Amino acid sequence: MNITNKILAVVALLSFWAFAVQAATRDDLAKRLEPVGQVCVQGKECPGMDVAATAGGGGAKSPDDVIGKHCNACHGTGLLGSPKIGDNADWGKRAKEQGGLDGLLAKAITGINAMPPKGTCADCSDDELKGAIKKMSGL
Ligand code: HEC
Repeated sequence: MNITNKILAVVALLSFWAFAVQAATRDDLAKRLEPVGQVCVQGKECPGMDVAATAGGGGAKSPDDVIGKHCNACHGTGLLGSPKIGDNADWGKRAKEQGGLDGLLAKAITGINAMPPKGTCADCSDDELKGAIKKMSGL
C-alpha cells in the first residue's frame, strides 16, 4: 500500500465514523423528541399535561407547543442571560421581583431588555404565554 492509498483509507474510515456518530445522534434526538410529539399536538388535547388542559379550551396552544416553537430558543440554554427552563431559583427570584406569576406575564408581554415582546409568539394569548411561563418556571 502506498502512502496515497493509506491516506485514502484513513479518510474513508473517518468519514464513515463521522456518519455513524451523526446517525446515532439523530436517533437519540428522535427518541428524545418522541414523547413530546406524541403527547402534544396543536389543537388537540394533551393527555398527561394537566397544565395544558387549563390553558383555555378551543384551539389554544399548549405550553409545550409555545415553549418549543418560541421560548426554548433562548430559555432552553439561558441564552442572553434568560432564566433557564427548570431553573426554579432564577424564576422564583424574578417572580418575587415582579410580584408573582402575573408580574412575570406582564414583563413577557411587553418584553424586558433582550427578552422580545411576547417572546416572539405574537399570536399567543395571555393565557398561552402564562401557561408557558408556568411550565418553564415550575411556579
Ligand atoms: C430572543 C430570546 C428570548 C426568547 C425567544 C424568549 N425569551 Fe424570555 N427572556 C429572554 C431574556 C434575555 C430574559 C431576561 C431579561 C432580563 O432580565 O434582562 C427573559 C426573561 C423572561 C421572563 C422573566 C421576565 C422578568 O421580569 O424577569 C419571562 C417571564 C419570559 N422571559 C418569558 C418568555 C416566554 C413565555 C417566551 C416564549 C413565548 C420567551 N420568554 C421567549 C430572552 C428570550
